[in-house]
Amino acid sequence: MKSIIAFSHQLLKDIIQNGDVVIDATCGNGNDTTFLSRLVGKTGKVYAFDIQKQAIEKTQVLLEKSNIENVELIHDGHEKVPHYLQDQKVAGAIFNLGYLPHGDPSIITVPETTIHAISSMLALLKKRGRIVIVIYHGHTGGTTEKNEVLTYCARLNQDTYQVLQYQYINKTNKPPFVVAIEKK
Ligand SMILES: C[S@@+](CC[C@H](N)C(=O)[O-])C[C@H]1O[C@@H](n2cnc3c(N)ncnc32)[C@H](O)[C@@H]1O
Repeated sequence: MKSIIAFSHQLLKDIIQNGDVVIDATCGNGNDTTFLSRLVGKTGKVYAFDIQKQAIEKTQVLLEKSNIENVELIHDGHEKVPHYLQDQKVAGAIFNLGYLPHGDPSIITVPETTIHAISSMLALLKKRGRIVIVIYHGHTGGTTEKNEVLTYCARLNQDTYQVLQYQYINKTNKPPFVVAIEKK
């Protein structure tokens, strides 16, 4: 069985093609950004957001090391996505909720802006496009965000979206899990 991260990547790999526009909503240390960059190739584009300068700088270093030039790093909140993408159609997006690994654990994603961002990205999503959300919830504030995001996703109209949850149910210590939304 695939790990949570491997499964989240597989969901995107299955549908993203060369030339696509995609979003890393929480670039953090840049791992998902570089993954997405490879998927869309030279003709595609990755928009990568983070509110922390430290995260943007770390991702920038990773991109330079790998000679990656198809990423626009945006030091701003993912809830501002319509401002940066206007009417561009998006094939996929990924969120890793929670705090920056090895960073300040008090700077976390929060339900209001996370849900605002998901909703804005759904409006930009292509047919068969996917938004993949990796929900970390072991930290303070994590349970509230998990519950609000799950409630929002579970209420999405089934005629327009398919929503999946992938989770190991016998693991201790609040392990992360995946929620994915696909536009029909
Ligand atoms: C779990 S980390 C992301 C890990 C990252 N995907 C990686 O591969 O290393 C969560 C990130 O979300 C960022 N964040 C919190 N609120 C945000 C917001 N409104 N918009 C964009 N990023 C945000 C944090 O600064 C943090 O870096």
